[in-house]
Amino acid sequence: MPNFHTKTLKPLGYPCTYNETTFTYEAHSKRGNTLVMASTQGEQVLIRIQQKEDGVLLVKGDKVTRPTQASFLQKVLIDFRDASEAEEIFTNIEPKKFLHVKHSPYLKEIEFFANHFDVAREIWVEIGFGSGRHLLHQAKKNPHIQFIGLEIHKPSIEQVLKQCELQTIENILVIDYDARLFMEFLPSNVVGRIFVHFPVPWDKKPHRRVFSAAFIEEALRVLHVKGTLELRTDSPLYFEFTFSQMMQLSKADVHVKKNADLEITSKYEDRWRKMEKDIYDVILTNEIEAAPIPKLGRLHFDATVNFAKIRDAFKDELLRGQGFFVHFEELFEINEKSGLIRLSFGANERNERCFIQIQEGKVTYLPETILATKSNVAAHTLIKEWFHGICD
Ligand SMILES: C[S@@+](CC[C@H](N)C(=O)[O-])C[C@H]1O[C@@H](n2cnc3c(N)ncnc32)[C@H](O)[C@@H]1O
Repeated sequence: MPNFHTKTLKPLGYPCTYNETTFTYEAHSKRGNTLVMASTQGEQVLIRIQQKEDGVLLVKGDKVTRPTQASFLQKVLIDFRDASEAEEIFTNIEPKKFLHVKHSPYLKEIEFFANHFDVAREIWVEIGFGSGRHLLHQAKKNPHIQFIGLEIHKPSIEQVLKQCELQTIENILVIDYDARLFMEFLPSNVVGRIFVHFPVPWDKKPHRRVFSAAFIEEALRVLHVKGTLELRTDSPLYFEFTFSQMMQLSKADVHVKKNADLEITSKYEDRWRKMEKDIYDVILTNEIEAAPIPKLGRLHFDATVNFAKIRDAFKDELLRGQGFFVHFEELFEINEKSGLIRLSFGANERNERCFIQIQEGKVTYLPETILATKSNVAAHTLIKEWFHGICD
């Protein structure tokens, strides 16, 4: 994570622009942390300034708004450092890395899949593509297929985007999104294959696995008839768990293979093979045409709120509902009428981390694309009630 340490930062007059970065506002919390809103090439990034015990300031990107391309964050941090005339005591920013900062046309936001994704072509999905060896190989071999690569590890995403550009591969769309939530965005019966190769085994915390009864159900819905959901794993526990989940379906066509060879091996597979570990494939073929589903909307606030009242009542607190929660973590004040609340909320196992922005009474989520899933809607209702309780 790019960052730098400094003893001083010259105050900026907001809004201001330095190079290609615009700094819109600064907000402060009671814990002594500061956020600066920055934007470059249409992407918003919050810079976080933390006061360390020795009086040194640590300046880095806030995790919630961290851009997928690390080079963007590096550029924003360098512009902030130069605009505020900071003298670095320590930095891990490498200017050479962002000489060619530009958005990849193959990197998509969830908004794209919610509203603009064209499903005319056959779609194949790879979940957790890691180094991308398998995804890139399949995409080159099947140029008529539209691939979607899901990954939550940003350096892997950046690496695959770079390879798409270098090798002129134009049939991969990459998204930085949790695979367990993503399927809800795809229409029914449009996907031919879903690959899940060497997912994190979570042998001690199975509830964190990509596979679950709900995930299998959603995968079957998006697969067309004869489409396949394919797990490849070195973990006997993951294999058994997935197989038994599939056996709970009322009807299932499941094939199992042991130590089958694929045309391409991933870095993980190479490692396990060297260690002579067994590798298991479980392939579930969909037999049923699913009913269409309505598009998922976004969460939003209609009513206005009073920021000063919220600021005065605010404390770090955790509210719990049936299977969901809301954790109000930290409040940042921009001025008497505006500020930000950092929070996490949603299902116990699949929570969202975001900010609520309050500007002149108007309330929005940051990032804006919070899904209206059942548990998110329940948590959002609780948040609105919390606002009403304080403001009305
Ligand atoms: C063990 S690695 C395997 C990578 C690659 N498939 C391979 O075979 O080399 C698992 C990958 O899944 C990604 N991952 C874990 N949980 C995920 C999730 N919920 N959604 C999307 N990707 C996930 C991780 O970031 C990691 O890159």
